[in-house]
Amino acid sequence: MATLKEKRTCGQRCEDFGHFVWNSDNGTFMGRTPEKWVYISLYYAAFYVVMTGLFSLAIWVLMYTLDPYAPDYQDRLKSPGVMAWPNTYGEEDIEIYYNTSDKSSMKKMSDILHKFLQPYNETKQHECNFYNCTRGKYFIQKTFAGPHHTKWSCPFTQSMLGPCSGLEDPTFGYNSTMPCVVIKMNRIINFLPSNHTELPPYVNCTVLEGHNNVENIEYFPERGVMDLSYFPYYGNLAQPTYVNPLVAVRFRLVRDRKAKLQCRVVSDKITYQHYHDPYEGKVIFYLQAVH
Ligand SMILES: *[C@@H]1O[C@H](CO)[C@@H](O)[C@H](O)[C@H]1NC(C)=O
Ligand SMILES: *[C@@H]1O[C@H](CO)[C@@H](O)[C@H](O)[C@H]1NC(C)=O
Ligand SMILES: *[C@@H]1O[C@H](CO)[C@@H](O)[C@H](O)[C@H]1NC(C)=O
Ligand SMILES: *[C@@H]1O[C@H](CO)[C@@H](O)[C@H](O)[C@H]1NC(C)=O
Ligand SMILES: *[C@@H]1O[C@H](CO)[C@@H](O)[C@H](O)[C@H]1NC(C)=O
Ligand SMILES: *[C@@H]1O[C@H](CO)[C@@H](O)[C@H](O)[C@H]1NC(C)=O
Repeated sequence: MATLKEKRTCGQRCEDFGHFVWNSDNGTFMGRTPEKWVYISLYYAAFYVVMTGLFSLAIWVLMYTLDPYAPDYQDRLKSPGVMAWPNTYGEEDIEIYYNTSDKSSMKKMSDILHKFLQPYNETKQHECNFYNCTRGKYFIQKTFAGPHHTKWSCPFTQSMLGPCSGLEDPTFGYNSTMPCVVIKMNRIINFLPSNHTELPPYVNCTVLEGHNNVENIEYFPERGVMDLSYFPYYGNLAQPTYVNPLVAVRFRLVRDRKAKLQCRVVSDKITYQHYHDPYEGKVIFYLQAVH
């Protein structure tokens, strides 16, 4: 018991401590002989060498099995999602609502589209994606033949959207009843949309509600095709200059000038009826012009 211990002076304690550090009676240093200290040091040295080895091995195995050009977990995404621009939301759905006689309404829509199309700027595409792609064929690249050890990407320029490019008509038709909506399909690494190469994916828009209010639907590029040369996509590290192909759809609104529309990307490997994902393979939106 501590209480039974006799009280010792400070001087005695210091002496005890000195004795502990170096005990000349039995030749121990900190309670152990020098020989024992050597063994202990050797033991710990070996211990840390083995630990470092194991750690390095684990890291090496991890790095070895990682493909630096593809994310490991792609969320089991098999079929791509589809989005529409201008991406203005109402309560929860995409609602493209504008006023043909209100300049600020027109500007709001065209600003969204101009901003969205910035990566598709002609000069930018000509500088970054100057490869001459063969149209109508998958652009399969086994090697990294592009600049700085990358793969080539096919150019997609704003002007390919014709009257909906924003080049001739900077309002994209939002000053009239012929607005343009741009459709984009999300990228999936190594995804091939179709197994027979004569049929590229294409956008097909249908009127779900308000049939009488939509007189005409036009697609740019022609037939709403997303050329096969934009597939497969190899990932952002392999193809840093890649841009998704786009399809612009121009609707001619008449009478009540409102409709519920669905634009689907049609291809045999693109599904569109996923219960939990309303944007899989298609996008549904409301379009309305007032004045
Ligand atoms: C559309 O804009 C014009 C001009 O700003 C305005 O007079 C009109 O009330 C607007 N229409 C609607 C339905 O908001
Ligand atoms: C494309 O980019 C160039 C240079 O950055 C710029 O001068 C030009 O106005 C842009 N074109 C469009 C349509 O925005
Ligand atoms: C693509 O074709 C154009 C004109 O035909 C040529 O000037 C250019 O060098 C070609 N680019 C590549 C990467 O082959
Ligand atoms: C809309 O704007 C374009 C380009 O500024 C112009 O050519 C066209 O006539 C305009 N349309 C209407 C209905 O004002
Ligand atoms: C293409 O894929 C579909 C379904 O994924 C399959 O039924 C069809 O046999 C395939 N065609 C060819 C030519 O491989
Ligand atoms: C577009 O979809 C509609 C409705 O599903 C269908 O009737 C029409 O044939 C399709 N058009 C094309 C070009 O596939």
